[in-house]
Amino acid sequence: MKTLFRICSIVLFFGLSFLLDCAYPAGEIPLYKDAGRTVDERVADLLSRMTLEEKILQLNQYILGENSNVNNIGEVSDTFIPGIGSYIYFNDNAVLRNSLQRRELEVSRLGIPLLFGFDVIHGFRTIFPIPLAQACSWNPELVGQACAVAAQEARMSGVEWVFSPMIDVARDGRWGRVAEGYGEDPYATSVFAVAAVGGYQGSDLSSPRSVAACLKHFVGYGLSQGGRDYEATDVSPQALWDTYLPPYEAGVCAGAATVMSAFNDINGTPATANHYLLTEVLKEKWDFGGFVVADWNAVEQLISQGVAADKKEAAYKAFAAGVDMDMKDFCYKDHLGALVAEGKIPVARIDEAVANILALKFRLGLFEQPYAVELPEDERILLPYNKELATKMAEESMVLLKNDNGLLPLCAKTVAVIGPMADNREHMLGSWTAHGRVEDVEGSIYDNLQKEFGKKMDFLYAAGCGFDGDDRSGFAEARAIAEQADVLVLCLGEKNAWSGENASRSTLALPAIQEALLQDMKKTGKPIVLVLSNGRPLELCRIEPLCDAIVEMWQPGIMGGKALAGILSGRINPSGKLSITFPLTTGQIPMYYNTRQSARPFQGKYQDIPTEPLYAFGHGLSYTTFEYGDLYLPKDTIRKNEKLRLEIQVTNAGNFDGKETVHWFVSDPTCSISRPVKELKFFEKQFIEAGTCRTFYFELIPERDLSFVNAQGERFLETGTYYVMVKDKKIKLELID
Ligand code: GLC
Repeated sequence: MKTLFRICSIVLFFGLSFLLDCAYPAGEIPLYKDAGRTVDERVADLLSRMTLEEKILQLNQYILGENSNVNNIGEVSDTFIPGIGSYIYFNDNAVLRNSLQRRELEVSRLGIPLLFGFDVIHGFRTIFPIPLAQACSWNPELVGQACAVAAQEARMSGVEWVFSPMIDVARDGRWGRVAEGYGEDPYATSVFAVAAVGGYQGSDLSSPRSVAACLKHFVGYGLSQGGRDYEATDVSPQALWDTYLPPYEAGVCAGAATVMSAFNDINGTPATANHYLLTEVLKEKWDFGGFVVADWNAVEQLISQGVAADKKEAAYKAFAAGVDMDMKDFCYKDHLGALVAEGKIPVARIDEAVANILALKFRLGLFEQPYAVELPEDERILLPYNKELATKMAEESMVLLKNDNGLLPLCAKTVAVIGPMADNREHMLGSWTAHGRVEDVEGSIYDNLQKEFGKKMDFLYAAGCGFDGDDRSGFAEARAIAEQADVLVLCLGEKNAWSGENASRSTLALPAIQEALLQDMKKTGKPIVLVLSNGRPLELCRIEPLCDAIVEMWQPGIMGGKALAGILSGRINPSGKLSITFPLTTGQIPMYYNTRQSARPFQGKYQDIPTEPLYAFGHGLSYTTFEYGDLYLPKDTIRKNEKLRLEIQVTNAGNFDGKETVHWFVSDPTCSISRPVKELKFFEKQFIEAGTCRTFYFELIPERDLSFVNAQGERFLETGTYYVMVKDKKIKLELID
């Protein structure tokens, strides 16, 4: 509808602006430069003045200068192309950007400013925990605040458009990009998508603290076969609608300014040439009013995906499908003109795409303020508030997976800190680190433990081994300090480059050398705390039995060391819970909580290993004990148009104050379409003082929380028996007409 309205207003204003133009005495400003006009009026007026060539240039994004994204093919380019719509901007301050903008506006006939975008996935310079970790905080407000900090640093450094949030539901940890999203659940990913869009965009896109968000990668990219990146995906239409599309619909409803089309092909039609998804669903059914940018080279890649013979056909297929802006490969720049001349692409479609892009430039205030204020570093990055928030996010995202015999919080005289991650700062940053720097990481685990405990505890350090390889020469030194210690803190994990884009791994297991180090340390008989730094769920079946306590630190960002030390000392009570399942072994993949019911739930299990995951979705311990009361609902039968307020009391029965997240699930055991065994429909995190009790509520709305969706994306609600579940509590609910 928005697109239709925009086209109509364009046609209307074509006529009017012609008249107005005549009415404009020479020298007066043209309508589109009048900030008092509506965005649609300004777009229509500007469009009416543009040539076809000027319009087509707006539909291209290019890179300029160094390309720091190692996965993206492409030469370093120093070709300045007047009139182009957008650049990916790789610098960390606004100086170059402003000079490019100035150069553009000096030659642009109509003074159309450039749009600068960049990959800001979990921070610009203040690097937060990876998004998968952030989801484990179950704190959407905090996620939104982290995105707001990233927006502030990016905008003040010359970037007004971020290619974030990544909201691909992913359940295969072999896929490296699982690190970039919010885990396996569609509802949780939807909630975090909305929080991220709100944090990035704020209430006014023209604010120097706001940036345009970009929902990516539309859609189903997380289903890449075998966890191998860029692979084709096969997904049923019904699963698309009940699992992979909901976060995008939520993000669009939240006002996301842009969407990025994915690399993968979906059931034989690449996402970047998928008219059904890009136009019929995104733009028409959901009334998305922003614009779609293709992923890097994704238009040209339609050739390798077998649906285009050359760049011209690729341009035609992507543009006709609904991709408005072409990233990097110039298929649009080189071929749209001819396609229009040949009558294959209507000018109206060109105008619609250009209008979407111009509208964002107007909303960002780029016509009024095309230059970013050039602030010194200490006024725009790594600000005290930014680092405090990064610390808080790291604290809330870490997950206590195991804590036998209350080994944690640490209480010892001498502690040996061992492992490749023990004194490493680099690999705390994770993948997609934008302008994050190792020197910004405020200490390693070893550094921060010494700082946290001061003289109360002695810390010894030995790396023991590298992240991979087979050099065991460091084991002896590790063994020597282990013998002197009361407790061992083993710090193992992944390098930054082992997750993220183009970082698929055939196994979730850590390299054998790391497991060997742990096994060797186990021989000392000392209690072991395992700290993990990783960007994916790990295979811990051989490791878990050797450890008394396990803390999933994830890749926690620049303040991760301080946060972890706070948890190991008990200053912080861990409150994280897994947003993705940890399978027992890689062989269990796919393994996630909201699977559909088996025909024989008690048979068909693996013969060689257990069929349960090692750590389930939602698993996470605390230093205190939270006791759940019974589920309460005011009545057990409701009509479709009624709401129901369910409640449960949670008591902090331990000695530590703490935060607890309650996850509310529903199940519909009998439906016209087989449904997942249970589905997350709400979650809430609360602080509960030791010895006190808090009530958690869930306002159940049948249409929203009990309905399901069919293969056509039609939501339906059936009467019958449902269950509401919290942890092991389950209550029956009858729905009637
Ligand atoms: C990459 C990624 C995408 C990123 C884009 C620009 O290949 O797939 O997430 O935003 O290119 O760097």
